[in-house]
Amino acid sequence: MSGIFLTFEGIDGSGKSTQSRLLAGHLEAAGFEVVLTREPGGSPGAEDIRRLLVEGEPGRWSAETEILLFTAARRDHLERLITPALEAGKIVICDRFADSTRVYQGATRGDLRATVDALHVQMIGREPDLTLIIDMDPDIALERGLARGSGEDRFEEFGAQFQHKLRAGFLGLLEDFPDRTCLIDGTQGAQDVGREIASLVDTYIAARA
Ligand code: TMP
Repeated sequence: MSGIFLTFEGIDGSGKSTQSRLLAGHLEAAGFEVVLTREPGGSPGAEDIRRLLVEGEPGRWSAETEILLFTAARRDHLERLITPALEAGKIVICDRFADSTRVYQGATRGDLRATVDALHVQMIGREPDLTLIIDMDPDIALERGLARGSGEDRFEEFGAQFQHKLRAGFLGLLEDFPDRTCLIDGTQGAQDVGREIASLVDTYIAARA
């Protein structure tokens, strides 16, 4: 039996993490076994790599080096957590996955999308079953993201123009992967967004059954 792999994507401050938690609660209440996880991170080794990536100066790594580090973290996460959970028939909800690398590393500081995709095929070779892309005005999202003061602001420090490029990149994924991506309006209140997502995922699961 194979599980279901759901991912959330969007710019920093779009509300993905809140929505991942709400969806996990909704599916658990419906009786599913759920694994809620995130990238970069999700396994002890990948969490170590996360700290290298999200802390420090924006110019600390080139986009090329980031591609390698994010892919290394993803490989460990996949081997140790995601694949075993899916093989056990669980629903895996992941806050970001390879689409974030396609956008953050592949489409912001030069056109590195082909490099991202080639390494993905070699080292990961797995796409989500369903990807929820939360759309949000980048200026509002950036304020929300920086207001958190998490100390993990390396990508937010690239500034507003970078966030606008990211939004365009995420919208582009809808055309690249029309079969598995859905756009969600993140400007409504969190509970309303949560209800919309819950209903969409319920419909998806019912159609698969
Ligand atoms: P988070 O704030 O959603 O936990 O993600 C941490 C940062 O890492 C966020 O600014 C997006 C960035 N990121 C990438 O640049 N590439 C990736 O592949 C992933 C997964 C995240």
